[in-house]
Amino acid sequence: MAIIHRLSPRLANQIAAGEVVERPASVAKEVLENSLDAGATRIDIDIEAGGSRLIRIRDNGVGIGSDDMPLALARHATSKIASLEDLERVGSLGFRGEALASIGSVSRLTLTSNNREEGSEGCSALTEGREMDVQLRPAPHPRGTTVEVRDLFFNTPARRKFLRTEKTEFNHLEEVVKRLALSRFGVGFSLRHNGRVIHNLKGAETTAEQQRRVAAICGPAFMEQAIHIDSDRSDMRLWGWVALPTFSRSQADLQYFFVNGRVIRDKLVAHAVKQAYRDVLYHGRHPAFVLYLELDPAQVDVNVHPGKHEVRFRDSRAVHQCIFSTLHRALADVRPAPAAEALATPEGLAINAATGEIARQPGLGWGAATAPYGPAQAPIPGRALEQVQSYGRVHPSMPAAAETPEDAPPLGYAIAQLKGIYILAENTSGLILVDMHAAHERITYERLKAARDVDGIRSQPLLVPQAMAVSQREVTLAREHEHLFRGLGLTVDIAGEESLLIREIPVTLRDSDVEALVRDVLSDLVEYGSSDRIEAHMDEILSTMACHGSVRANRRLSSPEMNALLRDMEATERSGQCNHGRPTWTQMSLEELDKLFLRGR
Ligand SMILES: Nc1ncnc2c1ncn2[C@@H]1O[C@H](COP(=O)(O)OP(=O)(O)OP(=O)(O)O)[C@@H](O)[C@H]1O
Ligand SMILES: [Mg+2]
Repeated sequence: MAIIHRLSPRLANQIAAGEVVERPASVAKEVLENSLDAGATRIDIDIEAGGSRLIRIRDNGVGIGSDDMPLALARHATSKIASLEDLERVGSLGFRGEALASIGSVSRLTLTSNNREEGSEGCSALTEGREMDVQLRPAPHPRGTTVEVRDLFFNTPARRKFLRTEKTEFNHLEEVVKRLALSRFGVGFSLRHNGRVIHNLKGAETTAEQQRRVAAICGPAFMEQAIHIDSDRSDMRLWGWVALPTFSRSQADLQYFFVNGRVIRDKLVAHAVKQAYRDVLYHGRHPAFVLYLELDPAQVDVNVHPGKHEVRFRDSRAVHQCIFSTLHRALADVRPAPAAEALATPEGLAINAATGEIARQPGLGWGAATAPYGPAQAPIPGRALEQVQSYGRVHPSMPAAAETPEDAPPLGYAIAQLKGIYILAENTSGLILVDMHAAHERITYERLKAARDVDGIRSQPLLVPQAMAVSQREVTLAREHEHLFRGLGLTVDIAGEESLLIREIPVTLRDSDVEALVRDVLSDLVEYGSSDRIEAHMDEILSTMACHGSVRANRRLSSPEMNALLRDMEATERSGQCNHGRPTWTQMSLEELDKLFLRGR
């Protein structure tokens, strides 16, 4: 073996860069996070050739003093923490003091900054040579910082080869900008690629402005079909927007989760969200959400991954429970409800007069037919009624508005049945269409679940108790969670150090593979501290029962029967979707019908 020698600073940094700088998007992420840490309220991003030729990011943050410039570019130098205690409750996005040194070792990096309020004279630095010594010279710059990264990986050809096409690299980079723009509503962002403006997001303060930003980033369709949630507990707050189950995705690509302003991907979070959507999402579909969790920084360990994508929660069970219960509640409340009074803004957005939020009309805001967010299509209930009244004056024989009084229930009154499949009903804003089988199925299912919750789960002893070989850890868990099993109608005894004995099972699970279920529950308990598998499985069985017990297509319903179904839908949790996550009803407002017939053009 050769003799031991010290690596040059540049080489050491290049090795460290292997973890931090994977592609242009990761450079942008690091530099943007520095701007946010510096308290910038305005950030301008200029990209050329997907970021491999140029990434220039300019902010109006606190800036760096000329004495600090060499340190900013050195490894293990940071202004953000000084001690282990600081690290344990770090609030800034950066803390390692590695990013700029790493980026500087694999690109041509120029750092220009000015930390003085008055005067426009700053200083500019670039790193050179094996020792990464810093060259300083005066440069004009208003207060704030500009980082210019040219020719990424010019001196590490092996890494450069891994770069994809310009378009792919830019897409990754744009995704980084979107995430950070969602993480700080107060900060204005602009993004240009090869001179073309891709995003220009003004700082967003009010809820309406925030919703506009979310719509600009996640698409207007998401915002139209999202419910706003805000659950503030003593120790943590969860807020943001979750899409209705009818707006699900084939991929998990519209899922943004922020912990104390930091973008993270986390298995525990994903599991809690999935569990909350369990009963309302079509199989294999993924929910869409933009969620913010705020809690004491000391409760989160951010130092678990070099890219800082992952965090560890000190009390992961509480976090799981908070996410699950908040979303579960919000989704259960999705049912037909009276439309909120909405006003149209000059931009054509419907804003709730009382809250300043973009009208979502919980329950009336989904389905392809309604577009409360779309320009000039905002349903304006007040005006619809006026229109009906004025039709009444022009055509005295037309049904007058009086027949759908303003206090009509949200789904109105049935007027007809179509082909034995759909119920047509009229409410204050227009036409309601209901898929009667889908709706009835959900109502029956929710009733079966409610009956189970009231009467408890009936269980039956097994003729021959079933033994299962498990690990010692699993035996401990089974002992600790005995009440959980019992509550679900399962009696699981400890038969030895590494074996369990299933003695009683719920009647509904008679024909299921109970051993496999118990195994899955135990592994959930190891991983997430909770499990809903048994309920999920029982629910599936109830759901099948509900499906068979519901009105089939082609059954003629009388008016009172149809109206009773509509009233049941209004009163039933989750009635917006059938058991398989399909919508149960939709609506066409008078405006939309008028548009269809080119009325008033
Ligand atoms: N845009 C900026 N505005 C003001 N100061 C900055 C800016 N960018 C970097 N700095 C200063 O340079 C230092 C080094 O930045 P660098 O990103 O390398 O490390 P860090 O942010 O402290 O930690 P991390 O490696 O986790 O990002 C920062 O601690 C900060 O003091
Ligand atoms: Mg940093």
